Amino acid sequence: MFQPDAVTSPNRYPRIFAAARECLPDGPAIRLLSFGCADGDEVFSLRAYFPTAQIRGIDISARNIRRAVRRLSARGGDARVEFVRGHSATCLERGTYDGVFAMAVFRHSDLDWAAESSEPSIRFADVAVEVQALADVLREGGVFAFRNSHFRFTDFPSSTAFECLVASPERPDAPVYGPDNRLIGLGGQVEGLWRKRSTEGVRD
Ligand SMILES: C[S@@+](CC[C@H](N)C(=O)[O-])C[C@H]1O[C@@H](n2cnc3c(N)ncnc32)[C@H](O)[C@@H]1O
Repeated sequence: MFQPDAVTSPNRYPRIFAAARECLPDGPAIRLLSFGCADGDEVFSLRAYFPTAQIRGIDISARNIRRAVRRLSARGGDARVEFVRGHSATCLERGTYDGVFAMAVFRHSDLDWAAESSEPSIRFADVAVEVQALADVLREGGVFAFRNSHFRFTDFPSSTAFECLVASPERPDAPVYGPDNRLIGLGGQVEGLWRKRSTEGVRD
């Protein structure tokens, strides 16, 4: 488990959601993944931006998923929304998503007070494995929304496959940790929306 808190809210990241919508068409063939969806607000928000896309929310907490399913049902259901309990994207099919949203999941509330090391709450190496898995499930040209993380997207080896489309404003109070799990400082996070580059024409 990365971030244990399930804090979320409707339309929490309007700039990122709107930018993702500008990059991606809407349509029943478009597939979006909300990794760490809590009790569903991110998925319900994405539905407003992508009225007909397929949206899957994954969360490690069975309680969150149960709540999300109940909330979906209370809204009258949605055949193209799915909430699934899971802890990793490693079991998903590679290259099948148009958009991946990993927001406020690669962090830990224990670190709000900027401890010198992110261990044992959250380790760069574990997050790097999951960022790679999420990168793998994206198709080329797909977008990766990455926000509210204690680690910088550009520090992950998989980030070299991406180009930055939107860099969100820095949060001066947010602790940032390096690949060695040591505190780098406050603020200066490079977060936002990234597009997976096409490998067409790229030779070894
Ligand atoms: C702060 S909430 C973020 C909710 C939403 N993405 C947002 O930004 O508003 C973090 C969520 O990540 C979930 N989570 C933590 N580790 C996870 C993992 N390995 N796989 C899936 N979900 C995880 C938690 O259960 C929690 O619901």
